[in-house]
Amino acid sequence: MRRVIIAGNWKMNKNISESIDLANAIKRSLYNVEEVEIVVCPPFTSLSDVNEIVLESNIKLGAQDVYWEKEGAFTGEVSSPMLKNVGCEYCIVGHSERRQFFGETNETVNKKAKALLKEGIMPIVCVGEKLEDRKANKTFDVIKDHVTNSLAGLTKEDMRKVVIAYEPVWAIGTGVNATKEQAQEAHKYIRALLKDMFDGTVAESARIQYGGSVKPDNIKELISQEDVDGALVGGASLKADPFVQIVRGCL
Ligand code: 13P
Repeated sequence: MRRVIIAGNWKMNKNISESIDLANAIKRSLYNVEEVEIVVCPPFTSLSDVNEIVLESNIKLGAQDVYWEKEGAFTGEVSSPMLKNVGCEYCIVGHSERRQFFGETNETVNKKAKALLKEGIMPIVCVGEKLEDRKANKTFDVIKDHVTNSLAGLTKEDMRKVVIAYEPVWAIGTGVNATKEQAQEAHKYIRALLKDMFDGTVAESARIQYGGSVKPDNIKELISQEDVDGALVGGASLKADPFVQIVRGCL
């Protein structure tokens, strides 16, 4: 059985006091939820303060990006040991916004995932096609390219710690979510790729989140799909109420 995982990607939102308020509100409302794994991914500047709030709670801390070197002259970057030190158990890599605006490639995603795994941090590896890809019937090609190259060289053991997030770019921040059928089709395809790359056990145990305009009113139908194991939530994770409802919608 795959445990449902709901993660909030706060993106470049929330100063320290706003982060503290949001984390406290989420913790208060969800303190008794054990069935669903709950992760919050604040910006780097709030990680330390949010960690103090979620420490020894059922809420886990995640970062939104990492650099693959451990330390050194890499101005502006943050390493996986630093994330470990601040309390992160998860880290998003390869988000489409990083691919689009910051030159992230499958190759850099792969290096980042490996660096995180070395530190015992679980990567949430984002994959997904753009609208033009879907229109050109290239959805599966893009997913295959992202999955095979971002996870290249990982071991079966590594894969026990990896979460995949299928985030079709056309659904992110648009209010237009993938239908449950579209999500299921993509997730099933990703699981088949994992079986080819690794084995059936890895494929069956890997958790695949859906991301893109997840809201309290669509989570139930998305999570009801056989291969949808959770959600990576953007906009609706910026307020406690909708995020809490999304988590509760999975119970
Ligand atoms: P929205 O939920 O705002 O569409 O964002 C999804 C996302 O990018 C999560 O990483």
